[in-house]
Amino acid sequence: MPAMLLDGKKLAGDVRAGLGPRIAALAARGVVPGLAVLLVGEDPASVSYVTAKEKACSELGMNSFERRLPADCSEGDIVRVVREFNADPAVHGILVQLPLPKGISESRVIEEISPEKDVDGFTPVNIGRMVIGDPCFLPCTPHGVIKLIEVSGIKTAGAHAVVVGRSNIVGKPLANLLTRKSINATVTVCHTGTRDLAEHTRRADILIACAGAPELIKADMVKPGACVIDVGVNRVDDATKAKGWRLVGDVDFRAVSEIAGSITPVPGGVGPMTITMLLYNTVESAERAAR
Ligand code: GUN
Repeated sequence: MPAMLLDGKKLAGDVRAGLGPRIAALAARGVVPGLAVLLVGEDPASVSYVTAKEKACSELGMNSFERRLPADCSEGDIVRVVREFNADPAVHGILVQLPLPKGISESRVIEEISPEKDVDGFTPVNIGRMVIGDPCFLPCTPHGVIKLIEVSGIKTAGAHAVVVGRSNIVGKPLANLLTRKSINATVTVCHTGTRDLAEHTRRADILIACAGAPELIKADMVKPGACVIDVGVNRVDDATKAKGWRLVGDVDFRAVSEIAGSITPVPGGVGPMTITMLLYNTVESAERAAR
């Protein structure tokens, strides 16, 4: 039997609908939640992510402020823009689109973002708060994945979750969140140094692919009935498409959906949830600032 589709687009719509009244209440007090976005260089995937984030803001009646810098700018140029955003009362959330060009220290830039406006949840302060379990902005993709799992009724308590990928943005925070008492999964983290990857993935009740490797997860790597979450967004060459490429996830969707119990599609799974959690954090930040 084919797997149940975990519809991130639908859930994202529901969460966004819940933000509407909160944004209206802020507007009644003269506050419009504002997201400031810094894009460095012209990487096509980054340009398209940033455009999608700004479009989502405008659809909800939120402000977005975009700044662009050329790929050959200095770290100092980037830091200056971040400091301007930190000081601007109309800015409630700051997003520096990653990756940054080679030669720029991402950690150095991220550390400049005020933790109170760090709606990506990337600063060391917010990561520390997340690990301890203190109130903080949770990173958007991991937060979106957790919401999608919870809302879909997937049992997490006592489940074995296998995370394939160890990035700072997704794999590491997700592994941490899954161990929270409220979720209570037992977590294995796999990465490029993992021997016999399939041995691990086949033991997963919940398998989360976030390695950035196109269609890495094949059907024979999945336990029958497992919940499979595909965080991957990869452009692969496809001469049959006008653009010359198509998007695939980290999971071989067609084959795995015959084995899994539930699965996220790409696109329409995790992606819309990431953007929605960014809006959610920005609204939260505006509410805190208005208190
Ligand atoms: N690049 C890929 N995903 C993200 C994200 O969630 N936030 C930022 N800032 N950059 C990214």
